[in-house]
Amino acid sequence: DWTPQSFVEETVEALQKKLGNDRVVLGLSGGVDSSVAAMLLHKAIGKNLYCIFVNNGLLRKNEFQDVLDQYKDMGLNVKGVDASARFLDALAGLSDPEEKRKAIGRVFIEVFDDEAHEISDVKWLAQGTIYPDVIESVSVSGGPSATIKSHHNVGGLPDFMKLKIVEPLKALFKDEVRRVGASMDMDKNLLGRHPFPGPGLAIRILGDITAEKVRILQEVDAVFIGNLKKWNLYDNVWQAGAILLPVNSVGVMGDERTYEKCVALRAVESTDGMTADWVNLPYEFLQKTSNEIINKVKGVNRVVYDISSKPPATIEWE
Ligand code: XMP
Repeated sequence: DWTPQSFVEETVEALQKKLGNDRVVLGLSGGVDSSVAAMLLHKAIGKNLYCIFVNNGLLRKNEFQDVLDQYKDMGLNVKGVDASARFLDALAGLSDPEEKRKAIGRVFIEVFDDEAHEISDVKWLAQGTIYPDVIESVSVSGGPSATIKSHHNVGGLPDFMKLKIVEPLKALFKDEVRRVGASMDMDKNLLGRHPFPGPGLAIRILGDITAEKVRILQEVDAVFIGNLKKWNLYDNVWQAGAILLPVNSVGVMGDERTYEKCVALRAVESTDGMTADWVNLPYEFLQKTSNEIINKVKGVNRVVYDISSKPPATIEWE
């Protein structure tokens, strides 16, 4: 019978056997998967696990510092690298979703590679890949439909790094990953976190990306997510976020006409992200959240709620 405890025991033992005294590098994303993978490896090999947490400038508001502090509290050997400017530079002028993903993937690899080279004699690259990542990336890259979305966190690093790959969560679904984390007393906030895409807010800003758009979306997202928590709705939602639309619409403020940005809110229920239903959030919640966003976030005058299911819509808009 599969239990989180037995999984942890067996995995830690297998990792110790496999890795011996080797050094391992792992990229933390702030998400549940990479964090649980790190905890397992930390349990198995301690300080021989070198974690790197890259700020791509496309994370949620305050996320980089908050999560970095949390990782340090967990005793992980982690280095935070703020590469926001490098990512924004690479994204300048790009508006095609796949080109944005590729640019982010490329810069991520460059930054990660630079950092990994600082660690002498590293032999392994650990990844928090879970089962749905494996099947979704096989089905999207292999089929005639070419790439639907190139999830940049699957596929690993270029050959020249010559690292062997270790993926302790490869056979697990998300809910199992969460149970494994819980059985290791992982912090509730980290454990209950909604999934967040590797390219982050870049694929929630439709069209081209600027620092100003990132800032606006971070503010909108912080109100939305903050309110979900305040209303105790966060844990009933599988994933939520805000999308900055590439349209302006007319509004009115006092006796002035405005012509400002529109944001969409998205909240879904799912078990593995492969199918999803939109969440029936209370009207009063939507009403308060919409008012708060429009009042607080300069440059936004309209909020809409996405009521599309996957399929045929996807969770992200890009
Ligand atoms: P979609 O939009 O395909 O999303 O329904 C399914 C799940 O995957 C996440 N997602 C990504 N994750 N890199 C990632 O690491 C990506 O490029 C990417 N695109 C989508 C999405 O947030 C959802 O959880």
